[in-house]
Amino acid sequence: MNIILLGPPGAGKGTQASRLVAERGMVQLSTGDMLRAAVKARTSVGLEAKAVMDAGGLVSDAIVSALIGERLDDPAALGGAIFDGYPRTQPQAEALDLLLAERGQQLDGVIELCVDEDALVERIVGRFTCAACGEGYHETFKRPRVEGTCDVCGSHEFKRRPDDNEETVRTRMAEYRAKTAPILPYYEARGLVARVDGMADIGDVGEAIDAVLDGS
Ligand code: AP5
Ligand code: MG
Repeated sequence: MNIILLGPPGAGKGTQASRLVAERGMVQLSTGDMLRAAVKARTSVGLEAKAVMDAGGLVSDAIVSALIGERLDDPAALGGAIFDGYPRTQPQAEALDLLLAERGQQLDGVIELCVDEDALVERIVGRFTCAACGEGYHETFKRPRVEGTCDVCGSHEFKRRPDDNEETVRTRMAEYRAKTAPILPYYEARGLVARVDGMADIGDVGEAIDAVLDGS
């Protein structure tokens, strides 16, 4: 099953995708994570993407679709992928259809996380991740069970994203409204979109997503 998690910055795409990986063995394909890895490794893609990401803009369609294509060639992705943060523009949506068709696959659904943008700033500004394994946390909504210790790997090192400040978040949201939300009708026309209340508790959002995936 190949599904897209669609929603603005802070909607909970990464949180829900990592749960689906843990509970259903699906593969998470996050272009944001791929780009951050490229920035860290100082590859040519990373060097080109860094300034755009730090400013809250969108990296070029060609770069992100190439990253997704490479990851779809990994046999692990054949069992089902969760697209997290991709596609984000109409050309990316069309590229994904082509990439899947070339591999004898198709898109099975799009889950839109419906959220209140004002609450998202609080979510993003309070977000941090484990520096060792990448598990995501929040100062208020998802603290580690033992203070200062990652629930998953036990590391004591945490980090924050450079684009997680209020000004950049507002730009990222404007990009979502202008370029990403308009791709929804492309999928609605094919009957693929299910809407989930992304303002509910993390566990309730997960249950609503499970209900969509299980067709109940
Ligand atoms: P990307 O990494 O995709 O960032 P984003 O879309 O801005 O989304 P976030 O990762 O900020 O939010 P999320 O929805 O994953 O929320 P999370 O689960 O962490 O992209 C970053 C940049 O890379 C872009 O700006 C762009 O420059 C570039 N880029 C990436 N893909 C691209 C593409 N396809 N094309 C072009 N450029 C691209 O949750 C947020 C916080 O809230 C967490 O702390 C979490 O614990 C908490 N939380 C989650 N759910 C809930 C809940 N239900 N209740 C309370 N708290 C919650
Ligand atoms: Mg994310």
